[in-house]
Amino acid sequence: MGFQGTTAAGPAGGPAGPGRGAGFGAGAPASVVGLLAALEGVGADPRRGGYTRPGFGREEATLHEWFAQEARARGLDIERDRNGVLWAWWDVPGGSRSNAVATGSHLDSVPGGGQYDGPLGVASALAAVDHLRLRGLSPSRPLALVVFPEEEGSRFGVACLGSRLLTGRLDPAEAAGLRDASGLTLAEALAESGLDARHLGRDQAALDRVACFVELHVEQGRGLIDRDAAVGLGSSILGHGRWKLRFTGQGNHAGTTLMADRRDPLVAAAGAVLAVRDAALAVPEARATVGRLQPLPGGTNVIASAVDLWIDARHPDDEVTAELLGSIHAAARAAAEAESCEAELSTESVSPTVHFGHALTSRLVGALGGVPVLATGAGHDAGVLAAEIPTAMLFVRNPTGISHSPEEYAADEDAEAGAVALADALQELLLVP
Ligand code: GLV
Ligand code: MN
Ligand code: MN
Repeated sequence: MGFQGTTAAGPAGGPAGPGRGAGFGAGAPASVVGLLAALEGVGADPRRGGYTRPGFGREEATLHEWFAQEARARGLDIERDRNGVLWAWWDVPGGSRSNAVATGSHLDSVPGGGQYDGPLGVASALAAVDHLRLRGLSPSRPLALVVFPEEEGSRFGVACLGSRLLTGRLDPAEAAGLRDASGLTLAEALAESGLDARHLGRDQAALDRVACFVELHVEQGRGLIDRDAAVGLGSSILGHGRWKLRFTGQGNHAGTTLMADRRDPLVAAAGAVLAVRDAALAVPEARATVGRLQPLPGGTNVIASAVDLWIDARHPDDEVTAELLGSIHAAARAAAEAESCEAELSTESVSPTVHFGHALTSRLVGALGGVPVLATGAGHDAGVLAAEIPTAMLFVRNPTGISHSPEEYAADEDAEAGAVALADALQELLLVP
């Protein structure tokens, strides 16, 4: 299943080979829409609709192969680093890999996600290379296209897993022991994909090569609809975190256990779900969600013995997020006590609010002719990278305003406008050191 660093042929049952983006190799840039069309069959979710492409899984590996083929078809040099991050290099003749401009995104998805979250940034990066070549650009510094694994954290629980490992924001030993829903550890999943968990962790040499990073992403809200603009730049990423609540009670028989005798953790969990919603409603600008809940063992005629539920909470002020979690935890303990159960809270990942540096963003606003600048409530690898190097984000309008759902969308002309804007941004950065 692993990433085949030197394979030229397309994987069986995978996407079409390189150059399928309309016009590639025929004197026109590949279209973003054509590039994305090649991915349509990969991880299509028959139950939810949309796509399910878990990090370090088969579907993501297939998409990484597709990216490697498209990059090689453009003469870029592909490497996979020890944390599973893909790098495709447009080198400066005779030059070294330093002071590089980097762009890219991710190819994994949430369960039942849309077509654009991640792949739009990767396809746009490939198309931007074509635009720059057709403009006859000869860069004075290298360009790296980057693909981060497991950005969604939908398999191993930690958001932006690849960029956290690359930057050392996650302890490698802790990461290696993370488990997916089937109990497989990250170390085991990495081994299946040809990586050794003993080599995980901050990669200073890889980071030292990069001077700045620009991630293009489909917008996941309504900011660009409201501003009537196809493309915008990012100002900030809302602080976000993930926590797990485990309720334990007494597993028992649904028919023989009198209502008064029960210690039902699912009833306690139901109270916590409402408490999460109510806690966020009470704090201006807060968002809190329970999107996943798992009773153990999960049987119609079985009172659960334990229930896990996961909380996603977000607020611009990280202290307020911590207070929000404090009140959710207190409410969960009260709900557990009322059912004679126990509640235990653990943290899976925390990402503080990120404000992108003004200098890079305002330079790109100028290069793009004064596009709007807007905040986002969604998390991105760019948010992790921003602690290391100057980082900016470009957003492409999503006319539905919906994301993490098959209804996520970008009009074809907006997707192409996004790739042109990315090429303009990269050109600005590549020509002037
Ligand atoms: C990722 O898209 C997130 O915001 O969780
Ligand atoms: Mn996402
Ligand atoms: Mn994303």
